[in-house]
Amino acid sequence: MAVLVTGGAGYIGSHTVLSLLMRGDEVVVLDNLSNASRESLRRVEQLTGKTATFIEGDILDRAVLQAVFAQHPIQSVIHFAGLKAVGESTRKPLEYYQNNVTGTLVLLEEMRAAGVKQFIFSSSATVYGANAPVPYVETTEIGGTTSPYGTSKLMVELILRDYAAADADFSAIALRYFNPVGAHDSGEIGEDPNGIPNNLLPYIAQVAVGRLPALGIFGDDYPTQDGTGVRDYIHVMDLAEGHLKALDKLPAIQGYKAYNLGAGEGYSVLEMLKAFELASGKPVPYEIKPRRAGDLAAFWADASLAEKELNWRVSRGLSEMMADTWRWQQKNPQGFAQ
Ligand code: NAD
Ligand code: UD1
Repeated sequence: MAVLVTGGAGYIGSHTVLSLLMRGDEVVVLDNLSNASRESLRRVEQLTGKTATFIEGDILDRAVLQAVFAQHPIQSVIHFAGLKAVGESTRKPLEYYQNNVTGTLVLLEEMRAAGVKQFIFSSSATVYGANAPVPYVETTEIGGTTSPYGTSKLMVELILRDYAAADADFSAIALRYFNPVGAHDSGEIGEDPNGIPNNLLPYIAQVAVGRLPALGIFGDDYPTQDGTGVRDYIHVMDLAEGHLKALDKLPAIQGYKAYNLGAGEGYSVLEMLKAFELASGKPVPYEIKPRRAGDLAAFWADASLAEKELNWRVSRGLSEMMADTWRWQQKNPQGFAQ
């Protein structure tokens, strides 16, 4: 039996495909390459000595999905495909709802037509909205999202809940990622953002490698230990391994369940910067800028449910996140576009 990984050529997808292949799972990747390169999976194949079937196609394309389900013995789907830039989503809400919500609906309908009943969804800590108590815990009602991106994740979680309630054979796990960072420790695959990075660690890494002059820190007057924003950073390989645990759990799940995947600990922007400088030996110049619209002061995960029910917890700390990010950036200063 095989796992269909949508968006499997992307950042988190490629690391998860690597982990799946390493343990011997059969993997089919469907990706339209809108935000990824074919090179990521070539490198995964070099690293693992194994091959994932790659199909270039869109989750909105029913004919492609029908062919995938007809031609491969798919038992479960890990659904990464989607658009993920928060700022862009406020400028292009229809594109975000089309890709992230309609795309997921089309996928679910074609799964149902093919009798495929096990689903893992890439959700986000952003579904807790702006007012949830910290640390975020799964028992808190989700909602109050502040961007079309966040709302698209919220809407899909609600769709999954309703579909799972209506079909006793369908099981779904929503994994609410906190802040994924880092790279595989080979330095062969990693995060390769298009254009100027929106997220903190890719930005720091590009400053260190000389592609950008200085980091702008968005606010130093938050009510946190040093005034800069605090987040729960999670190594992408820990995140990938969380998907394998969730996949193993799916047959025992009735209906829909959500799990936080985070470290359960928060670090400030300045702490991240210092840790990166330590790991890389490179100074990272920075300047304090105004707060970024929509940013929250501090949030991190209560990660105990995933530990209890999925037998998963992070095993890589800040120094590995930084060392692995730096190795990837140094080996691939221009990302996959060499
Ligand atoms: P990514 O952009 O690297 O990966 C997404 C992949 O999906 C890309 O390879 C892209 O080409 C593909 N894709 C996009 N639309 C598609 C479509 N319509 N059909 C087929 N393929 C399509 O992003 P990522 O960081 O790996 O994120 C993966 C998932 O996790 C996304 O759903 C994202 O919203 C979610 N997520 C990411 C983060 C993060 O910080 N990276 C945090 C929380 C949740
Ligand atoms: C962002 C998204 C969130 C998404 C997450 C992971 C926003 C408002 N939120 O979260 O929905 O799930 O990415 O993809 O975009 N920072 C700087 N300078 C920079 C970049 C970031 O100071 O150049 C700070 C931010 O203010 C924040 C921290 O670094 O305090 C982390 O930022 P980022 O990596 O963008 O992640 P989030 O804002 O948590």
